Amino acid sequence: MQNRTDINIYQSIFNSCVEGILLVKNGEIVLVNPSSEILFGYKVDQLIGMRVEDLMPNANRKSHEKLRTNYEKKPEPRQMGVGRDLIAQKKDGTTFPVEISLNVADMGGETMTIAYITDISMRKKAELELQRSEEQLINYAAELEQRVKDRTKKLNEAIDGLQKSNSDLELQITERIKAENEARIALEREKELNELKTRFVSMASHEFRTPLSAVLSSVSLIGKYISDENRDKKLKHINRIKSSVGELTGILNDFLSMDRLDAGKLSASGKQILICDFLHELKEEMQELTKKDQVLELKCATPGVSFNTDPQILKQILVNLMSNAIKYSPPGEKVVLDVIIKDDLLIIKVIDKGMGIPKADQKHLFDKFFRANNASHIQGTGLGLNIVKKYLELINGTITFKSTEGSGSTFILNLKSMNDE
Ligand SMILES: Nc1ncnc2c1ncn2[C@@H]1O[C@H](COP(=O)(O)OP(=O)(O)OP(=O)(O)O)[C@@H](O)[C@H]1O
Ligand SMILES: [Mg+2]
Repeated sequence: MQNRTDINIYQSIFNSCVEGILLVKNGEIVLVNPSSEILFGYKVDQLIGMRVEDLMPNANRKSHEKLRTNYEKKPEPRQMGVGRDLIAQKKDGTTFPVEISLNVADMGGETMTIAYITDISMRKKAELELQRSEEQLINYAAELEQRVKDRTKKLNEAIDGLQKSNSDLELQITERIKAENEARIALEREKELNELKTRFVSMASHEFRTPLSAVLSSVSLIGKYISDENRDKKLKHINRIKSSVGELTGILNDFLSMDRLDAGKLSASGKQILICDFLHELKEEMQELTKKDQVLELKCATPGVSFNTDPQILKQILVNLMSNAIKYSPPGEKVVLDVIIKDDLLIIKVIDKGMGIPKADQKHLFDKFFRANNASHIQGTGLGLNIVKKYLELINGTITFKSTEGSGSTFILNLKSMNDE
């Protein structure tokens, strides 16, 4: 028999134990500790006499009864409900997870079951949270993995795009190089063709000049031997042939000059010339070409002054300018040559009161074969001024002009002395 002190010790252990302790006999609660009140919400004296099944949800009661009866047949200390979650029910019907250890006790010859019950809500909650954060972690990892996959895919797409545009670029470059090569070949062909054309033109011009001069001399001879019959009419035709041959020779000469200038075959050589005398002679020569009552006037401000230039080239230039002034002015109008020498600069103006040049045509005037709109009824090839410009480059000269359609034109030459060369 235990003594009184032992009983008190057991009693206080029983009372202070935080686990709920139930003493059960044949499914009926016979003793409970105070913690059971907190666990189940029933008072101690309410709990005593209740069936243990009353402390679990309805759904589990039947199966528990069977398990319990089996246990009672062969009771032994063990953990209850291993491998499954045990759920208890409070007085107010709410449920909570529990862990239960079972033991057997012999109480005055009677076998009773002692159940130690622990509320594991907190642990479960913590487990759940852990599980949740594990899931979150897994989700996050999966999300990260997906993001990496997406990024990699985009990167790969960008690289693909880049590679494609690279190859596009390469293709473009090859095409451009091909086009450039084709253009170069075409240009070379055109150059060859141009050279061929120029060579042909200069050859033809050269070859035409000999028969033409034969025609001219024969016509002149015929003019001397004609009989009196219809003499005037015959002379008129002879003169017409002469002037046409002259025009043709002029055109051929222009072609030849142009060819020589383009090929760089001409070079200038300066010499000292008395400019007013030189121009006076030229004026006399040109007078032959004037129309009826057309007067050529020379205004030389610096008589007796010499100037260093190439006289042949200067003559070609002035013949062109003066024949234009004569050709594009009406009969009876004066053509003036105005000359001045200032230090090493020679300025010659060729002034006419003729038809002038339309404003819109002025910018093309020095282009090869260009002819102004208002000159189409007058014979010309549009080469003269182009040749003038090229000649001027050889003798340090420039040309400008002022013109008003219907009132006349002034062409101004500026020549630098060729002294220093
Ligand atoms: N003094 C001028 N007055 C009016 N128009 C002019 C004058 N000089 C040149 N032009 C215009 O400029 C054009 C080009 O002149 P350019 O001397 O080059 O050729 P062209 O006189 O027609 O032929 P050519 O080759 O026989 O000289 C002329 O066709 C004419 O329209
Ligand atoms: Mg001309």
